[in-house]
Amino acid sequence: MTGLRRAVVVGASRGIGKALVEELARRGTAVTGTVRDPHGSGPTGDGRSVVLDLSDPDAGRALEAVVCPGELDALIVNAGIFGPAHQDVAQVECEETAELFWTNAIAPVRLARRLLPLVRRGGVIAFMSSRTASIALNAEGDMELYRASKAALNALSRSFAVKDALPADIAVLLLHPGWVQTEMGGSNAPVTIRQSVAGLSAVIERALDHPTFRFADYQGDELAW
Ligand SMILES: NC(=O)c1ccc[n+]([C@@H]2O[C@H](COP(=O)([O-])OP(=O)(O)OC[C@H]3O[C@@H](n4cnc5c(N)ncnc54)[C@H](OP(=O)(O)O)[C@@H]3O)[C@@H](O)[C@H]2O)c1
Repeated sequence: MTGLRRAVVVGASRGIGKALVEELARRGTAVTGTVRDPHGSGPTGDGRSVVLDLSDPDAGRALEAVVCPGELDALIVNAGIFGPAHQDVAQVECEETAELFWTNAIAPVRLARRLLPLVRRGGVIAFMSSRTASIALNAEGDMELYRASKAALNALSRSFAVKDALPADIAVLLLHPGWVQTEMGGSNAPVTIRQSVAGLSAVIERALDHPTFRFADYQGDELAW
């Protein structure tokens, strides 16, 4: 049984987000997942799902309609995209850059700031970051656009934590789910979705009532900035 009684997972139509909703529901959490397409497959938790698209500047309104202030133990902003396959600064178009940085960095923090009043004191706001966000650990130099967008998420989350969440006694986690077998991670990834979401759930649960700011992986290990 998890310590999370009530949670929201943003970006739960497939992959890690969908499995996280199912894992939390299995552990006894009342969990709402958000999807862009209400007619898609979506998560099979307790059946609650809400339509939310991060590209909508008003994203969050639908959640405010179904979650009461102070009700959430955890808000988990999981949605993310990889960006153009070439990942090349020399080739990327302005519009592609805007979509990538909006979806992976600006919109998650904007949504979290808007929904902060829904999270209880001692609760957790978790962003799905990536080990690739680490500037110190970038030994390969690949995936340069995706890396930069997740590094931007980390930077913006720090400001959000310091200005907004930590003063309200709410923890902020930047989580690396592992290299996971999803559409984004591909079939060569070493970590199964089940392993990832079991670990992520435990890391989030451990942050309850410990208002800290951390960049950590699904096994709870700290990552270098
Ligand atoms: N897989 C890995 O190895 C790995 C490693 C490090 C970090 N991550 C991060 O972990 C998170 C989940 O990754 P994943 O592998 O599960 O990816 P995925 O299978 O590609 O799923 C991405 C999810 O994000 C949603 N999404 C994308 N754009 C959205 C938008 N504008 N508004 C709302 N939802 C949106 C998708 O919804 P639709 O179905 O509507 O497109 C889908 O539910 C991402 O943030 C990713 O960057 C993954």
